[in-house]
Amino acid sequence: MLQKCIVETFGNLAKQRKCFSNRTEYYVEYPISGQLECFITNMETYGYKLFSSRTVAKNKYFVYTSEQETVYVCYAFKLGAIRIFVQDGAPYVGYKDLCTVRTAGLTLMNMKYDDPCQVSHDNGLGLIVSLADGSFIVYDGGYEVDAEGLLRFLEDNSHCGEKPVIRAWVLTHTHRDHYSCFDFFVRNYFDKADIQNVIACIVPDEAYVNGKVEDRYFNDVLPELAHSKGIPIVFPISGQIYEFSGVRMEVLHTAEDLYPLHVATENHSSTMTRLYFEAQDKTVLIPGDLGRSSVTFAVSTWGDYLKSDIMQVPHHGHSGATKEFYYTVNPQSVLFATTNEHYKCRIQSNEAWNHYLMNNLNVSEAIVADCGYQKIL
Ligand SMILES: [Fe+2]
Repeated sequence: MLQKCIVETFGNLAKQRKCFSNRTEYYVEYPISGQLECFITNMETYGYKLFSSRTVAKNKYFVYTSEQETVYVCYAFKLGAIRIFVQDGAPYVGYKDLCTVRTAGLTLMNMKYDDPCQVSHDNGLGLIVSLADGSFIVYDGGYEVDAEGLLRFLEDNSHCGEKPVIRAWVLTHTHRDHYSCFDFFVRNYFDKADIQNVIACIVPDEAYVNGKVEDRYFNDVLPELAHSKGIPIVFPISGQIYEFSGVRMEVLHTAEDLYPLHVATENHSSTMTRLYFEAQDKTVLIPGDLGRSSVTFAVSTWGDYLKSDIMQVPHHGHSGATKEFYYTVNPQSVLFATTNEHYKCRIQSNEAWNHYLMNNLNVSEAIVADCGYQKIL
């Protein structure tokens, strides 16, 4: 039905590509004036119902539903292109429990950087969102050795000592210092917490420059593991908003946005989200390990809309971001997911983007993930 609607509107202009797991994208690189409006009208004629729509930074987002599937339509202003994603089932919207028991907050995990079992002693990212209804969102989590500390935090901060509920576990990308804690947690502590969703953008091999992703975890392990445990995988789509108790999550970049360009490395496949904490009126930007070309793409897509109060520094303060990205986000506080030693090195070395971030903008606070679990909000 969707295919018919697309052909009727765009003729043979829409390129089709298969995404991971029965998701399909249609990409119209040079739509003719009025074609977007025509497509929207045709969608309704074909029986699709408008579920949501929004316009941000001149980009337009529509979500349509039918009984079987959800269709995401995006008009990317800077590219002048239309992207259409179709996938089975209902749209994911988060989980907003109106019964609140606390003010939502954010904690930066302490990685066990000194553990001899770790391959790398300076990376690893972990953030925990304590939601207002007593449940949690977890971002990445670091290595296997970090899972125990995470479980302890969740149990200590769960509402009335109940079994922790993780509304969503966001995996930014398929690198060991980001997914290993999740993997260990699911295999060893599955009965100790209720993991309701994992949010991860699994990028097919052919989307990578080399035609193959080196770190196979997302592609070969995660789908099977999640399925065996009954944890649904949510594929994030840029422009979408997920509502939780006291916190709103907005998807600002996924690897799929780069199409028809290829994804250079796993870092470039990072999903970037932003959290808005209602009680504190604060935003926190979480770009994972995005690289320079990807953050440049994000700046051209969102412009000033990227401005955020707090920013996780991409790729642990390694090469990653650009001056333009930092200028646009212009945060007051920055989070470095690395050791104190590496933090000092990275801001003092000739890495111009870090020097610029720390000295030329308005950063008043840098928090390094090497001092115990730290409450950020
Ligand atoms: Fe990393």
